[in-house]
Amino acid sequence: MMQLRTLPAQTVFFLGLCLSGRRGLASAPELKEQPKKIAVIGAGIGGTATAYFLRQEFGPTVKIDVFEAGTVGGRLATEKIGNAEYEIGGSVIHPLNLHMKHFVDRLGLSLRKDVPGKMAVFDGEQLIFEESDWFIVNFLRMLWRYGFNFIRMQMWVETLLDKFMRIYQYQQYGYSFSSVEKLFHAMGGDDFVLLANKTVGEVMVDAGFSQNFLNDIVIPINRVNYGQSVRINGFVGAVSLSAVDSGLWAVDNGNKRVCSGLLYHSKAELIPAQVTSITPKLRPIRSGKSGTVSVYEMNYIGESGSAHSLYDIVIIATPLHQDLSQIAFPGFSPPIPSYFPGRYQQIVTTLVHGVLNTSFLGVTTDSSQFWVSDILTKENKELIFNSLSSVDPVHIPDNYVHLPASVKKVWKLFSGQPLSEAQLGQVFLSWDTVRERKWLAYPKYSPPHQRPPFLLHDRLYYLNPIEWAASAMEMSALSAKNVALLAHHRWHGLESKIDQEDLRTRLRSEL
Ligand SMILES: Cc1cc2nc3c(=O)[nH]c(=O)nc-3n(C[C@H](O)[C@H](O)[C@H](O)COP(=O)(O)OP(=O)(O)OC[C@H]3O[C@@H](n4cnc5c(N)ncnc54)[C@H](O)[C@@H]3O)c2cc1C
Ligand SMILES: *[C@@H]1O[C@H](CO)[C@@H](O)[C@H](O)[C@H]1NC(C)=O
Ligand SMILES: *[C@@H]1O[C@H](CO)[C@@H](O)[C@H](O)[C@H]1NC(C)=O
Repeated sequence: MMQLRTLPAQTVFFLGLCLSGRRGLASAPELKEQPKKIAVIGAGIGGTATAYFLRQEFGPTVKIDVFEAGTVGGRLATEKIGNAEYEIGGSVIHPLNLHMKHFVDRLGLSLRKDVPGKMAVFDGEQLIFEESDWFIVNFLRMLWRYGFNFIRMQMWVETLLDKFMRIYQYQQYGYSFSSVEKLFHAMGGDDFVLLANKTVGEVMVDAGFSQNFLNDIVIPINRVNYGQSVRINGFVGAVSLSAVDSGLWAVDNGNKRVCSGLLYHSKAELIPAQVTSITPKLRPIRSGKSGTVSVYEMNYIGESGSAHSLYDIVIIATPLHQDLSQIAFPGFSPPIPSYFPGRYQQIVTTLVHGVLNTSFLGVTTDSSQFWVSDILTKENKELIFNSLSSVDPVHIPDNYVHLPASVKKVWKLFSGQPLSEAQLGQVFLSWDTVRERKWLAYPKYSPPHQRPPFLLHDRLYYLNPIEWAASAMEMSALSAKNVALLAHHRWHGLESKIDQEDLRTRLRSEL
C-alpha cells in the first residue's frame, strides 16, 4: 500500500515473546471429552487461523471442516498481469503484527523482498507534499508545514501500539474474552474502549493536533487504508496511521499463501460450499446412556448439491452484514439475525498496465524524472480515486528494477466506484491491460458502533466483530486465537480463563 520510510524505526517493546510456546500454566483437569467435529465458515485469514489455533487447543483427534464459498484467502487475493501477480486485497503487514509473523515462520514462507518507494499527497490539482530521498529534507519540510504534529503523531501511535501489544501476552497465557469491549478493556482500560467509540478526528483534535495536519496527512492516509476520512474510530485511525511506519512487509508470492498454509498445517478439511443456514439440534447421547447433547446442523450447497452435517462447535469467520455472508439462523432463541447493523464500504481495486499522464497530477517536470510510487489524496469530491500507487509484483525477481512514470508499468487505484474508460483516459496516456475487483472491503465506520459479541449461542462463535474496532489481517488473526481459546475454555468449563479483570497486575506477579 504505502510506506513512509523516513520515519525512525519503531522500538520493539516485547522481548522474548514466544507465541508458539505452550502456555505457562498447568492445564486444568479435562472434565469432558474433546469435541468430535468443529466447523469453521470462511477460509480467509480469520477462518484459516481459527483452524490452526483450534488444532492447537483441541489436539489431533477432532475433525475440523472449513467451509468456503469462494476462494481460499478471501480478502487476500492476487490478480495476474502478464507473467506476474499483484495483491488486489490486503497487502501490507506491520512489523509488530506478531501472529502474522509467527504464521510465516511456522509455515516456512518468506518475506517479499523490499522495494523502496516514495509518497506524495495530491489535492486534485497538484502534489502538495512530495517525499524526498533524504530523511533530513522530509523532516524539515514536515516541521516547516506542520510543526511538531508529525512527531507527536508517531508518539501517539506508539503509545497505543504499546498497549495493544499486551494482547499477545494475555493470549500466550491462554486468556480469552467474550466481547470486543472486554478485550479492549483488558488492553488499555476505559480509555481504550473510548478510543474505539470516538472518531479519530475528535480524538486527535482533543489531543491538540492541527486541522491542517488532519486534512493534509491524516485524511489522505485514512483514504488509502480505509477509503474513509476522519470519521473512522480512533483505534482504526491509529492502525491506519501505523501503516506509515517503516518495515512494513508482505509475504513472498502473495499474502493468501498464509491461508492455504494454515489450512494444510491444521489438517482441516476444506469443503468448497456455501453455508446457507445453521440450526440448533438435540442429538441422543451415543453409548447407550439416556439424554441428549446439543449440536448444530449446518446446511450448505456444494459441488454436488445441498447437504447438511452436525457439529459440536461452529465458528463463523466472515462478516454477517448486508450483501455479505447470507446465512440464516432458524430455531434460535433469542433469535440471531442474518445481518447485524452496519454496512461495509465498497472499494474497487483497479490494476492498470499503462503509462501515467503525470500532467494530470500537475507535475511539470519530465515524467522520466517522476519516481513517486504512492499518491494519496486529500478529500475532494471531484477526485475519481482515493489513491494511486505504482505496484510491484508479489515476487520480486533478482534483476528487478524500479521504473519511472515515463515507462509502462502496473498501477493500482482504489476508488469508491468502478472507473470508466473515459476516467482512466484522464489519468493514463495509454494502457493495454485493466483488471478490476469490487470489494465490500471493511466496515463503514461511524462510531460509536454496536459490536456483536464473539459468542452468538452456547457453542456458536463469531470472529468478525473485531473488524468494527479495526479491519486488518492481524486483527482477524488475533480474533481467531481469542475465539479458539474461548471455545476451548467454555467446552472444558475453564471460567478462570475468560473475561478476567486486571490481567496486567496478575501476570506481572505470575512472571
Ligand atoms: C482492498 C483491500 C485492502 C486491504 N488492505 C489491507 C492491508 O494492507 N493490510 C491489512 O492488514 N489488511 C488490509 N485489508 C483488510 C484485510 O484484507 C481483512 O481485514 C482480512 O483479510 C479479513 O479476513 P477475514 O478472514 O476476517 O475475512 P474474509 O477474507 O472476507 O474471509 C471470509 C471468507 O468467508 C467466505 N464466505 C462468506 N460467506 C460464506 C458462506 N455463507 N459459506 C461459506 N463461505 C463463506 C468468503 O468467500 C471469504 O473467503 C484490506 C482489505 C481490502 C478489501
Ligand atoms: C494529460 O493531462 C492533462 C491535464 O489533465 C490534459 O490536459 C492532457 O490532455 C492529458 N494528456 C493526454 C494525452 O491525455
Ligand atoms: C461504546 O459504545 C458502545 C456502543 O454504542 C456502548 O455499548 C459502550 O457502552 C460504549 N462504551 C464506552 C466506554 O463509552
